[in-house]
Amino acid sequence: MRKIEVSPSILAANFANLGAEVKKIESIADYVHIDVMDGHFVPNLTFGLIVAKAVKRITNLPLDSHLMVDNPENLVDEFCEISEIVSVHYEATYHLHRLIQRIKEKDVKAFVALNPHTSVELLQDILMDVDGVLIMSVNPGFGGQKFIPNALNKIRRLNDIKRKTGLTFKIEVDGGINEETFESTLNAGVDILVAGSYVFGSEDPVRAIKTLKGQPKKISEG
Ligand code: DX5
Ligand code: ZN
Repeated sequence: MRKIEVSPSILAANFANLGAEVKKIESIADYVHIDVMDGHFVPNLTFGLIVAKAVKRITNLPLDSHLMVDNPENLVDEFCEISEIVSVHYEATYHLHRLIQRIKEKDVKAFVALNPHTSVELLQDILMDVDGVLIMSVNPGFGGQKFIPNALNKIRRLNDIKRKTGLTFKIEVDGGINEETFESTLNAGVDILVAGSYVFGSEDPVRAIKTLKGQPKKISEG
């Protein structure tokens, strides 16, 4: 059976009580998704290293850090110290290859994130170096947005590339994931589901995560 991992985004959590929010998901989540926004790369500002380190201190879950910042080079080293996965945006750096190598040198999983308009085919010459691809299924910047259906097309194309090349990078999807949208992304070939409002906006975050971990009706053939 294929393992589906869930990475709840604390963007939708109650920041006045962040420790307790993270504890709610600790028994079942696979990661904590950390949405770092700088107010430049995306039109919103969230938090940085101080908050991420505070989360790291209170949980055993690995951190899945999603850097939505210009010049991610300035932040990656410190995020690598506390994360299992670091995602950097294709659109945010001139030297993606160098940045990916720098993350991997620290024994951290290097993922490349793509905005909705960025084609997966642009990754042809970097896919062999990455541990995963994060497909944005909303325009990054805010939680609670509607899933963009073309993300499914991109996930399928990526999965085709995996089949043809034999590469084993993971596919992660982020934005608008809920009980109505998650199955289609799994059918398209996703390994890791990020969910913010669906998990932390739920009265029962554990049940919400269990729903996302339910096996899809049909998994695309490998
Ligand atoms: C959006 C962030 C997402 C966001 C997802 O820029 O990268 O991780 O928290 O939130 P939902 O699940 O509410 O769409
Ligand atoms: Zn994210």
